[in-house]
Amino acid sequence: MKHMNIHPVVCAEGNYYMICIPVSKKALMSVFVNGEEYTNDKCGVKISNCYVQKFEIPKKTLDLAKAYTVTYEIIYREAYCSKKEPPVSLTFSFCPIEKRDDIHIYHLSDVHGREAAAIRTGGFFSEKLDLLVLNGDISSSTQTAGESLLPLKIAYAITHGEKPCIITRGNHDLRGKYAERIGEFYPLCNDKFYYTVKLGPLWCLILDCGEDKNDDHREYAGTIAFHKYRQMETEFIKNVIKNSEREYQAKDVIFKCVISHIPFMHTDYDPAKGIHEFDIEIDTYTKWVQMLNNEIKPHFGLFGHVHQVGVLEGAGKYNNKGFAAPIILGGKPENNTVYGCAVTLKEKTAEILFTDETHCVVSSRIISL
Ligand SMILES: [Fe+2]
Repeated sequence: MKHMNIHPVVCAEGNYYMICIPVSKKALMSVFVNGEEYTNDKCGVKISNCYVQKFEIPKKTLDLAKAYTVTYEIIYREAYCSKKEPPVSLTFSFCPIEKRDDIHIYHLSDVHGREAAAIRTGGFFSEKLDLLVLNGDISSSTQTAGESLLPLKIAYAITHGEKPCIITRGNHDLRGKYAERIGEFYPLCNDKFYYTVKLGPLWCLILDCGEDKNDDHREYAGTIAFHKYRQMETEFIKNVIKNSEREYQAKDVIFKCVISHIPFMHTDYDPAKGIHEFDIEIDTYTKWVQMLNNEIKPHFGLFGHVHQVGVLEGAGKYNNKGFAAPIILGGKPENNTVYGCAVTLKEKTAEILFTDETHCVVSSRIISL
């Protein structure tokens, strides 16, 4: 009898959890929650030939059940009477965020392939972890399926399928053969990488800048079209504001944050180098900052991309568009290691610790909420 490893990752998005399970064999797979079956099918046909099996479970359902069972049968698909191995089932417990404070979030970004170090660094909170954020550039490209699977691999190693995760897309995730198939590997919400999610008292706006240079840059050889995508994202943010009472102004929301791989309040212009190629979408990103400052008023933002750890408040090198909330730069690769960011949300403050793979705190900051 053949088996395969089942390593689920519970990704939070909109009103759903997307349970993502990398698979190494062709199999029919279902997830059961409270006895109800959720299938991975396309227009009625169950998917058995894929890299990642994905299941959308309503948030409320899994939050109440606090457990799910994955069942699979390895299949040898034929036109009629396909052959199958005996079914295998595994049950996982799940811990939704139910606390009102003392919420532990760990943020990793810009791992750039340092798998073992990232798993050690991201294990800072151990069983106290409430939410894992993998904020882009976990691999340096998506040239292979293995690189594209790395965020899920790291997320499982840290959460064991028991804690919610938010997995965003970084600009390096758009580079390679599998970039056009990234939706097969990453959680998407309504086919987009921008969405909102509410986890207990925490409301998150996840934004996606795509690449860091203009669409016509020679490196991309015409493979990307992000200008219009970012304009659609502007309309999405406007809609979030229109629906504020169901979003960030909902009565159970205490903490509001924005999460993006690229810190879009930063116009990356270095006159010393004479390089202007990162100096893009100034009007669009300025509009995003204005909408955030004037309407949404997040308590803080979590960002990666610049390979720094630290908290920035007020105008400065990484904030020339005037983003009003503290900017947490939470991912730094260095030699063979990775630094990440541990956020603990308390009633009126957030404790920010920047930690290494030995769980030593290299710097810290308390911000008011
Ligand atoms: Fe990046």
